[in-house]
Amino acid sequence: MGMEKKLILDMDTGIDDAMAIAYALGSGKAELIGVTCSFGNVTNETAVRNTLDLLSLLGAPEIPVCRGAERAIGAESFTVSKGCMDVHGENGVGNVTLPHRGTPCDTAAADFILEAAEKYGQNLILVPTGTLTNLAAAIRKDSETVRKIGRIVFMGGALTVAGNVTPYAEANIWNDPEAAKIVLESGIPMTMVGLDVTLKTLLTRDIAESWAEMGEAGRALSEMVCYYIQHEYEALGCALHDPLAVGIALDPELAQTHPFAMTAVTKGEAAGRTIAHSFPHQCVNPSVQVALEVEPFAALFNETITGLFKRLMETA
Ligand code: RIB
Ligand code: CA
Repeated sequence: MGMEKKLILDMDTGIDDAMAIAYALGSGKAELIGVTCSFGNVTNETAVRNTLDLLSLLGAPEIPVCRGAERAIGAESFTVSKGCMDVHGENGVGNVTLPHRGTPCDTAAADFILEAAEKYGQNLILVPTGTLTNLAAAIRKDSETVRKIGRIVFMGGALTVAGNVTPYAEANIWNDPEAAKIVLESGIPMTMVGLDVTLKTLLTRDIAESWAEMGEAGRALSEMVCYYIQHEYEALGCALHDPLAVGIALDPELAQTHPFAMTAVTKGEAAGRTIAHSFPHQCVNPSVQVALEVEPFAALFNETITGLFKRLMETA
């Protein structure tokens, strides 16, 4: 494709992650060079399966998909919560049956990220939209190489609003607070796209329904997103959590941010909370730009993914 900017998505492939893949492929602003998988909405195994199937559905079966962390740091296992199954369906993609295609690559997620950081440096954009476990593993292995990445924008956390799993915690941080702490305290510059802004970007059911006549990909995404809307905020629509992180990564001017020195609470009632340091000596490096305001995004999102559906129909 020859685009200068390269993009890696790192995700727990549920429905809004699927929308983020479609947005990334439709935008034409960076070349999607790989998807690394974590866990959360689904297990790592299912995230890999869903990603392979979605990339194939969306006309990009050649993009490598890497296995990643299967559980949180220090945890013995991971089980998908009932809440996630309700919102994303038992298979993570709204119980829509996708044809199984492709196999994962041999490189583990953290190594894939490090190799790409070395190769593309400032031209690489990394967007985690699941737990931060793979990024934490890459930082633990070689933080200087992670520093070479041009832009890191993650979906997760909530600074000014309540969480969506507990009053304190947003799901991606809740699923691995230790990883979030490592990433947030690394001092590596990054942008946090949390519930502070994603809840301001609702996609309505009529938009999702309008994709149903747009070929195989449009039909599948329409069915998934209608399922998501029904099980998330029903009357209002669904929040574009993960697509917004990709949107801001590709067009930073979509968000207004403020720099903070952030951490994550790892234990107790507030586990999973993302919070700014309060002591001056801990605030010397406010490396996390927290998105606090966002431009309207649903129309741009819709235009971008319907453009992709139309191109796929023309080449079918
Ligand atoms: O809290 C929303 C986030 O949790 C999104 O990334 C969603 O896909 C889930 O992972
Ligand atoms: Ca996600």
